[in-house]
Amino acid sequence: MPAGFQQLEGEAVTGTLALSVFTAVLGSLTFGYNIGVINAPQKIIEADYNATWVHRYGEPIPTGTLTSLWSLSVAIFSIGGMFSSFCVGFISEWLGRRKAMLANNFLAFVAGSLMGMSKLCRSFEMMIMGRFVIGAYCGLASGLTPMYVGEIAPTSLRGALGTLHQLAIVTGILIAQILGLESLLGSEDLWPVLLGLTVVPTVLQMGLLPFCPESPRFLYIIRCQEHQAKRGLRRLTGRQEVGNILAEMKEEKRRMDMERKVSIAELFRSSLYRQPIIISILLQLSQQLSGVNAIFYYSTSIFMKAGVQSPVYATIGAGVVNCAFTVVSLFLVERMGRRTLHMLGLGGMCICAIIMTTALALLDKVAWMSYISMLAIFGFVAFFEVGPGPIPWFFVAELFSQGPRPAAMAVAGCSNWTANFIIGMGFQYVADLCGPYVFLIFAALLLFFLIYTFFRVPETRGKTFDQIAANFNQHSLGGMLDMNMDMDVDKPCTELDYLGDDGMN
Ligand SMILES: *[C@@H]1O[C@H](CO)[C@@H](O)[C@H](O)[C@H]1NC(C)=O
Repeated sequence: MPAGFQQLEGEAVTGTLALSVFTAVLGSLTFGYNIGVINAPQKIIEADYNATWVHRYGEPIPTGTLTSLWSLSVAIFSIGGMFSSFCVGFISEWLGRRKAMLANNFLAFVAGSLMGMSKLCRSFEMMIMGRFVIGAYCGLASGLTPMYVGEIAPTSLRGALGTLHQLAIVTGILIAQILGLESLLGSEDLWPVLLGLTVVPTVLQMGLLPFCPESPRFLYIIRCQEHQAKRGLRRLTGRQEVGNILAEMKEEKRRMDMERKVSIAELFRSSLYRQPIIISILLQLSQQLSGVNAIFYYSTSIFMKAGVQSPVYATIGAGVVNCAFTVVSLFLVERMGRRTLHMLGLGGMCICAIIMTTALALLDKVAWMSYISMLAIFGFVAFFEVGPGPIPWFFVAELFSQGPRPAAMAVAGCSNWTANFIIGMGFQYVADLCGPYVFLIFAALLLFFLIYTFFRVPETRGKTFDQIAANFNQHSLGGMLDMNMDMDVDKPCTELDYLGDDGMN
């Protein structure tokens, strides 16, 4: 058997596998696209809201109402995500991974149409509805894509293919930023096209999904359809003999059947799970409350305030930095510990936020401070992708064994989207209130999360590496499926430090 696995590791990516992964991450691309898309055309869309108001009520829109409507348009996206991220488990078991992705495309169509036609219909309500529906699409896609990719990838490639999800998201953000240029689609007449374009990857995905096999892991472990699972495996691996992979899945199924499912309430009640679930939630919060989405949603207006000459290009620059450092983190995560990288990221972001604030405050006196603030924003984004961006997700998967993992992922996902909503909704108000000092709030939060990570978050890599390395690729998506499975059912965290300290429970 070990020889078989060795052989597997040297295996090349087959056409079917490449096609399936590509098709799946189109969902992540749409996700990223919709994070980035409402950034650049903010002023233009706001002017249209105003025009609609004038058309309806014969008077210009009050500034406060406009800020509320715009913040709602930005933030309702996360409410959609909050609801749907909870349903990922249920829908993916009911329809299967592939059909769930197919059905999800329906939401993207509805949303694209609503947003694309809102100007024509003179209705900001349609725009807001569209943002809600696309948020629901993204909540599902952000769960389904990593799940499907993680399941179809051979063990040795799971980590590498899994990061493509994150890479597709940041690529989507970048594409949206480039298309949002006023000379391209970010103009008064064309912004509906910009928002409607979200259906393009969707159409592509719908066209390609029929050629992708359903996840064999799902077919076998959940549906017990050995025959179909084998057929899928043959297509994905390009080999006739798939017995060793099937044996591995059999083992996974056996372990899964042994473990009891844990409800969300139990996660908080049981002293075994309380500490890890609090750590999981705080890590998600550290990702969202770091303020990075304030940059992605509002960078153009931040750059404008900072007096950067072409704010939209600066936004695109931030997108490029974001992509580049996602690739960098791919290499770093394998070498340095999660805890170290997370703290490095948080600390770096904190320092960048302070520099940014100082630069913005001195702007009136020193002209070249606008460049410093731009560099600080780039640094902020870079440090985010080093740690707080990619790490919280697979950390959650690592802290829990098979039984409590689905419930823990749902709680983590929901807290992530909730924090995302609070930032999207509140940032503009707070920014108007505090002026250049708004990022000091994030600096303070970052410092808190840094201290929390230092005292409370254990390093998982060193502790579980031996067990995992023997059978599984220890990267993020591998973790979602089968990491820590060797742990005892009743004591899922005995390998980690924090339960050793009795005073903490
Ligand atoms: C709305 O448009 C009117 C002109 O139609 C303009 O005078 C007013 O300043 C605009 N209001 C806002 C909040 O942009």
